[in-house]
Amino acid sequence: MGKKIIIGNLKTNMDYETVVKYIERIKNRITYPAVILVPTSLYVPYFKELNIKLAVQNIYFENEGSYTGEILPSQAKSMGIKYALVGHSERRKNLKENNQMINKKIKAGLKENMGIVLCVGETIEEKVLLETEDVLKRQIFTALKGIDDLKNIVIAYEPVWSIGTGKIPTERELINTIKFIKDFVKELKRGQEIKVLYGGSVNIKNIESLTKIEEIDGYLIGGASTKPEEFIEIINEVESLV
Ligand code: 13P
Repeated sequence: MGKKIIIGNLKTNMDYETVVKYIERIKNRITYPAVILVPTSLYVPYFKELNIKLAVQNIYFENEGSYTGEILPSQAKSMGIKYALVGHSERRKNLKENNQMINKKIKAGLKENMGIVLCVGETIEEKVLLETEDVLKRQIFTALKGIDDLKNIVIAYEPVWSIGTGKIPTERELINTIKFIKDFVKELKRGQEIKVLYGGSVNIKNIESLTKIEEIDGYLIGGASTKPEEFIEIINEVESLV
């Protein structure tokens, strides 16, 4: 297996002053090559000095024009950003982003040769009703509709109930669900393999046990990535174990 990918999603945390301090504290301390930081777009120019790969938290699917508030893949690319998160559950919930829109966004990103991190995951209600696999199938089937080449796509499995709650699935649940996603994609896309990351309350306390799960190809980290010392410790831990 290749290196485990570590993505730090800073979401909408930190004001400018905090960003400056954050950058100061992680500068020259991250040498692991498979790290991607996902800052609030407003602060991208400041993060560029870190020489770490960057992603945007969202992209839009239209061509250049009048779409107030959106960011196009071509604009991200012109700022040297090669990766994008698509379909994060916070956008699905708060902005009613649906699987069809997510499909269009992925296609738009791929057209610009961006690396796409497709976020999927079930809510607690869906989990209790034993609908996790059906939900994942629906999300993945529609998001990848009409897309034949998966080489620039990874999937981030982020159970909604696990984001920011301190709760993570059991080892057995993670192995089963991640295997399920990989098998489903393989069957859907003529034998192609896809990497699957895990996201949801990843922190310094659980990273060691998570790295032992071979099926997980990396981590999408929210809260813990906003704390420089913890984020660096997590990266060091992953680096030492893989
Ligand atoms: P937390 O790590 O804060 O649970 O967030 C996970 C997440 O949503 C990353 O995209």
